[in-house]
Amino acid sequence: MARSNTNNNVNNTMDNVRGSVMSENRRILMQSSNLSSTNLVIVGTNFKVGRKIGRGNFGEVRMGKNIANDELVAIKLEPMKSKHHQLQLEQKFYRMIGVCDGFPKVFYYGQIEQKYNALVMEYLGPSLEELFNICGRTFSLKTVLLIAISLLTRFEHIYERNIIYRDVKPENFVIGPPSSRKEKTIFVIDFGLAKEYVDESGEHIPYREHKSLTGTARYMSVNTHLGREQSRRDDLEALGHMFVYFLRGSLPWQGIRVDNAKERYRQIKEIKRSTAIEVLCDGQPEEIATYMKYVKKLDFYEKPDYEWLRKMFRDLFDRRGFVDDSVFDWTGRLHHTSFATSRNSYQQQ
Ligand SMILES: Nc1ncnc2c1ncn2[C@@H]1O[C@H](COP(=O)(O)OP(=O)(O)O)[C@@H](O)[C@H]1O
Ligand SMILES: [Mg+2]
Repeated sequence: MARSNTNNNVNNTMDNVRGSVMSENRRILMQSSNLSSTNLVIVGTNFKVGRKIGRGNFGEVRMGKNIANDELVAIKLEPMKSKHHQLQLEQKFYRMIGVCDGFPKVFYYGQIEQKYNALVMEYLGPSLEELFNICGRTFSLKTVLLIAISLLTRFEHIYERNIIYRDVKPENFVIGPPSSRKEKTIFVIDFGLAKEYVDESGEHIPYREHKSLTGTARYMSVNTHLGREQSRRDDLEALGHMFVYFLRGSLPWQGIRVDNAKERYRQIKEIKRSTAIEVLCDGQPEEIATYMKYVKKLDFYEKPDYEWLRKMFRDLFDRRGFVDDSVFDWTGRLHHTSFATSRNSYQQQ
């Protein structure tokens, strides 16, 4: 799957509420993009910048190489001219997360030629959205349960480090590089919209209303649509929407064709609010509806019972007779796609 197809779903790109700032940044990136005409751009002392592998909403992600040991890296770039500096914050969140399974190692943060902020991190594999496409745009219950159990563990760690994520979507979860030791690990990337929800004195941020939308409309919680300050419960509700998306292949509020973004968000909100959990989860095991009901009942300040949720999914996994062999729907299929070829070759440009 070629990288350019990452956002092949137009709705999904448009759904991202960071849109206006991001497209401004993208314009600056394109205008000042002498990165593609320079033969050799080095970040820090030893990271060589290679070809583009991802276009984010506020910049771009390039492949790179550590010239000291030939290891591949990913380099996230943000134009210094842009008004909103996110990358600095993002690297701070990665530092707070620390070295932990399922989060990329960060090697360096600094500037390139006074033009870009650059974050150099571990090079990882395709995103869940790309894998979803490779698998025909539905995942089996086994794959969804493996993803869910693993992401609940990742999010528990994020919350232990006082951070809420606020950008749940399949494009922001990736696996390790195919054929590597980490191929079976699901990683959380992109802390561009994250926020500290506990202050220095250990106090939870206060409940607020009339907040501007943050996140991706397709997956965000109903409370986020309603302008309520996000907390742990909203990440978990968005995860639930993503699990249902994987199982069903789509969500009932997808595909609204309205040019006006505000009107589109309003319609998505209305459909989300009026779709009963039973209807949303119709045909799925009842544990999926139980998950949705549980997270939607959580109080703004409440600590979710991650272990209870994981156990519910693990019990379902066992009852269905699935084997915990880390075999996902995409396992064994990645080498037969253009993805493998395009990703495995490092090119300077
Ligand atoms: N460490 C990485 N290794 C491999 N691919 C990556 C890495 N980081 C990002 N990408 C790819 O680039 C895309 C955009 O990166 P992301 O950090 O999500 O940026 P944005 O904040 O602009 O969405 C991701 O969806 C992913 O496909
Ligand atoms: Mg992203």
